[in-house]
Amino acid sequence: MVQATPFLLVLSLALVAPSFSSRKCVLTGHWTNDLGSNMTIKALNAKGEFAGSYHTAVTVTTNEIQVSPLQGSQHHTNEKSQSTFGFTVNWSFSDAITVFTGQCFVDKEGKEVLKTMWLLRSHVDTIKDDWKATRVGINIFTRLRPQKE
Ligand code: BTN
Repeated sequence: MVQATPFLLVLSLALVAPSFSSRKCVLTGHWTNDLGSNMTIKALNAKGEFAGSYHTAVTVTTNEIQVSPLQGSQHHTNEKSQSTFGFTVNWSFSDAITVFTGQCFVDKEGKEVLKTMWLLRSHVDTIKDDWKATRVGINIFTRLRPQKE
């Protein structure tokens, strides 16, 4: 009995502890990033695929910015609470495409944050300009309208 008590204590902690830190990070919703761009991700389907829209705050062109469609997928929807994901934005107002890849985290304050890297492929007229056609960067997204607990 004396030996069973610490064992039961450790077992119950092991069962209960994950629920403290595992608030699930959910991609669906409205997000803003460090450049001031906003995006909306619609509900994910059973395969973890999603669609949405992206309103960039910046452009490498002189074109007027328009809201553009995005399509992506999340890895293994139900297995982990902080999933990896990727999405593509097909810009409506330029010849470019951006692919984002990232992971959805819950930070130590319980706030969801999307840590991403992106590749922006712009159109160039000739193969000799290929070397300068792709930009790379990072973006950090936080929720525009944080969810209630
Ligand atoms: C273009 O300028 O041809 C299209 C818009 C590109 C916007 C880029 S995508 C990566 C970075 N993150 C943003 O939110 N906007 C810029």
